[in-house]
This record gives sequence, C-alpha cells and structure tokens, in this order.
Amino acid sequence: MNVQKIVIAGGSGFLGQCLTTHFNDQGAQVIVLTRGQERLENGVNYVHWNGRSLYRWKDHLEGADVLINLSGKSVDCRYTKRNKRLILNSRLESTRALGLALMKVKNGPATWINATSATIYRHAEDRPMTEANGEHGTGFSVDVCEKWENMFFSFDLPRVRKLALRTTIVLGKEGGAFVPLKNLARIGLGGKHGNGKQRFSWLHSYDFCRAVNFAIQNVNLEGVVNLSAPEQVTNAELMHEMRDATGMSFGLPNPKLLLEIGARLINTETELLLKSRWVEPEKLKQAGFQWEFPTLEKALAELCARDLFATKMSEPLAVH
Ligand SMILES: NC(=O)c1ccc[n+]([C@@H]2O[C@H](COP(=O)([O-])OP(=O)(O)OC[C@H]3O[C@@H](n4cnc5c(N)ncnc54)[C@H](OP(=O)(O)O)[C@@H]3O)[C@@H](O)[C@H]2O)c1
Repeated sequence: MNVQKIVIAGGSGFLGQCLTTHFNDQGAQVIVLTRGQERLENGVNYVHWNGRSLYRWKDHLEGADVLINLSGKSVDCRYTKRNKRLILNSRLESTRALGLALMKVKNGPATWINATSATIYRHAEDRPMTEANGEHGTGFSVDVCEKWENMFFSFDLPRVRKLALRTTIVLGKEGGAFVPLKNLARIGLGGKHGNGKQRFSWLHSYDFCRAVNFAIQNVNLEGVVNLSAPEQVTNAELMHEMRDATGMSFGLPNPKLLLEIGARLINTETELLLKSRWVEPEKLKQAGFQWEFPTLEKALAELCARDLFATKMSEPLAVH
C-alpha cells in the first residue's frame, strides 16, 4: 500500500521530522499537528492543536491512511515534580485527544501508531526482552510508558489497527543521543559509562523510518512492537565503536559519580546511559524486516561520514 495521506502529531521533533521527510519524499500528503504556528513548509502542512482538546484539527484525519502520535514533553530534563507531571500528562492528553478524534471521524485512518518506549522493560543484563517475554521494570519512566500504553489501548476502535512502538534509542544526526555521544568521544571523554556492562539497544534513524513504513504495510503486525536493531552492544562496546568512528585513540572513562554530577550540571538524568536496555525486536524479525544498518559499526560509519556529506533521510550513504 502506498501511503497517500499521513497525519503525524508531534511531527516537529526529532523522530517526527525524520518521518515527515521520509513520507514527503515518497509523495505522501503529510500533515503535522503542532502546538506551534500553522504553516506550509516544504510541502508539509503544519496544523495547530494544543495537544489536549478536540478542535478543527480533527477534520484533517478524514481520508488519512495513517495516524502517528509522537507528542510529549522531552525526557531530556531533570525529573523534578513539575517535569514529571508534564512528561506524563503531555503523553496521556495527546493520546486521549487523538483517540476521541478517531471515534468522531467518518473516514479516518485504518492504522494508528503511537509512540511508547523500550524503557518500559527492566534493567536487563541477563537476557533480551521480547514483546512476548519481556518483563517491565519499575520507576518513573516505566510508569509513564505503562500509563501511555494503557491510554492508547483503552480506545475501542474496531476498524483501526493499533501499534504501540517500544522504540529504543534512535541514532541520527538530526537529534537525540548520537550528537552528544559523538562530541564526548571527540574531546577525549569517550570512555565507558559506569562499569560499561549495561546493554545499549539502538536503531539508526533511517531504519526507524523504514520500520514504521514496514509496520504500516504489514497488516499482520499489531499491538506492542519493539523497534531496535537486531544487534545490541554493551556500553563499553558502544563507546569503543564511537571512538573508532570519530578517529579517537583514547577516551577517559566516566564513573557513575561523575555522571551524576555532570547530569545535574546539564539538567538531565543518567538513566539514558546507565540503564541496561536489552531489547529484542522479535516481531519485526518474524515479519521479515531487513535492517539497512544491522550493526553499530555500519550505523556509526554512516552517521559520522555524514559530517562530510549532507544527505537526505531517504538516501543514506552506502557504507559497506
Ligand atoms: N528519540 C528517541 O530515541 C526515542 C526513543 C524512544 C521513544 N521516544 C518517544 O518518541 C516520541 C518522539 O520522540 P522525539 O525524540 O521525536 O521527541 P521530540 O523531539 O522531543 O519531539 C516531540 C514533539 O512533541 C511535541 N510536544 C512537546 N511537548 C509537548 C506537550 N507538552 N504537549 C504536546 N506535545 C508536546 C513537540 O511538538 P510541538 O512543539 O510542535 O507541539 C515535539 O516536537 C517521544 O514521545 C519520545 O518519548 C523517542
């Protein structure tokens, strides 16, 4: 199926812009729901919403093939009481508004994809977490994901196929974790974090777009789906590969205490680096998805090479 019309709520952020470019390049009509200004930009229609209440924006769902929701306050901040409330509420309220809108439209999308996160799984150093046998962790981030998924699946929409994407850490030049990690490696701070044994599950941003497209095409895929590369590494391996890709022969290690102090200084949390994420994309594998960047070595070679050559999301450099 060729996607003709797609609505992306929260499409102005890192992953949203990757998808916007991907589907726009394929000739689809892309509509982004944003709390920002209404505008037409590079053929993409940005429509205003407040992320909470039903309004005229719901009419843009008429005739759409797919709805994707990526809305939510960034988790790259200190987990203060206020930030925790905003992180949770922005996800629940946007998901609820979209669900209510889908109940009202006459000719709405047949597929609704909602973001969630692979951080729902527990700290795992012993075995990979699949959709079927993965165990949930505890704590704030896990709680957010559980409530977010519960809100999403609470809508009874018999004609809509629903997918909750448990995405791991997406590596792309356009945003997210890659650039800060690369910059640390470049200034000689690219050693392991903590004891370096924690697993790092990741996905190249190009494969993120391809996997979303694949999920849209494969009508047998539904429910929760893990989005990650098939190869996971330890944090020590990640930083080793990062040093190699940036041409640094050494990297000072970052003990846990130093990371805690650094995270406070730059207003973030250490969870991203210290939690062991061992995520197995079992459903994608079983459905026959082929990764363009199955190994971290190949992904980092391409991402670091793109410092030299500007390329579009839909056309990654060939790295062999
Ligand atoms: N990046 C990753 O590696 C990753 C991994 C796993 C899961 N995720 C999840 O996937 C989603 C998208 O990730 P991302 O990296 O693209 O995030 P992002 O860059 O922070 O973009 C999220 C978008 O949500 C909207 N937003 C922000 N605060 C909001 C609020 N209070 N109410 C409603 N909307 C709000 C913003 O759009 P406007 O300002 O235009 O409204 C923003 O562009 C997030 O929910 C994230 O938790 C991301």
